[in-house]
Amino acid sequence: MVVGSRLRAGLPSTDHRPPDKKMQQQLSTKHLLGIKYLTEDDIQIIFETADEFKEVINRPIKKVPSLRDITVANMFFENSTRTRISFELAEKRLSADTVNFSASASSVSKGETLLDTVNNVLSMKVDMIVMRHPAPGAPQFLARNIKANIINAGDGTHEHPTQALLDAYSIREQLGDLAGKKIAIFGDITHSRVALSNIFCLQKLGAEVKVCGPPTLIPKHLPALGVGVEHDVRKTLEWCDVANVLRIQLERQDIKYFPSLREYSLYFGINKELLDSLNKKIVIMHPGPINRGVEITSDVADSEHSIILQQVENGVAVRMAVLYLLAARK
Ligand code: CP
Repeated sequence: MVVGSRLRAGLPSTDHRPPDKKMQQQLSTKHLLGIKYLTEDDIQIIFETADEFKEVINRPIKKVPSLRDITVANMFFENSTRTRISFELAEKRLSADTVNFSASASSVSKGETLLDTVNNVLSMKVDMIVMRHPAPGAPQFLARNIKANIINAGDGTHEHPTQALLDAYSIREQLGDLAGKKIAIFGDITHSRVALSNIFCLQKLGAEVKVCGPPTLIPKHLPALGVGVEHDVRKTLEWCDVANVLRIQLERQDIKYFPSLREYSLYFGINKELLDSLNKKIVIMHPGPINRGVEITSDVADSEHSIILQQVENGVAVRMAVLYLLAARK
């Protein structure tokens, strides 16, 4: 079904675009495997659709019938709070049927392969798979081997595309068009799928991107992607309009990358004293979960400059848009 007819079926009367414009709103892909595979137009279509769904989720009745003929399986092979709940709510707000799968409570623990597991789920007439998996490339592998739409909800240290989309959407809401905006990503870039997806997304939208952290936590290939590299937090804060602060991913670190958390916080943490001394307003973001007092202090995370909870709110609208647009590409 084309997006226009689904819009007419499910979206509010605030959809004033002419029918021919609606008919053009198709993504170039049937999967969301990574931001790397999206065009700038795809991202703009997702944002415009998310604008409409944001209006829906702020109504007293937060539901539209757009995906009432669709069944989605949320398959999480790794822990999640935000992404998992956000996808489930997005599906429910679109009236899709949903099933939730947890690797620890499944027959994966008996040795079943990923492909067998997914094929068994699909044989129960599931249309779309939302998957988080610890192995980078797992969603690409599935997309090559099954017919259903695949949405990557985070694959190892590779990509987390819906996080990057909701991050960019949240920046757009604060600052308007991202072209020319200066965005700094702080922290553990090496182990972060959020960092790579953000870099691809922000660059496609014309923003300038810098990363800042200890040299041990910044991959050597980043300058080849057109990303600036800094190790001085103050200098980077003086440069940027937006600071996206990432968590130290201790669970993915098999060796020591810095002497101690205390030292990390001292040299690379973002605190209020530092922000106040800059004499400028910076939008503060964090994808969560936050290590309070390590990469960011509570008085910054909870300050008026922080949009951390707006990011989470926007995640539902952005994921509704992604589900809705991909369902039209069955
Ligand atoms: N930001 C994010 O992916 O959070 P979860 O791991 O809780 O889903």
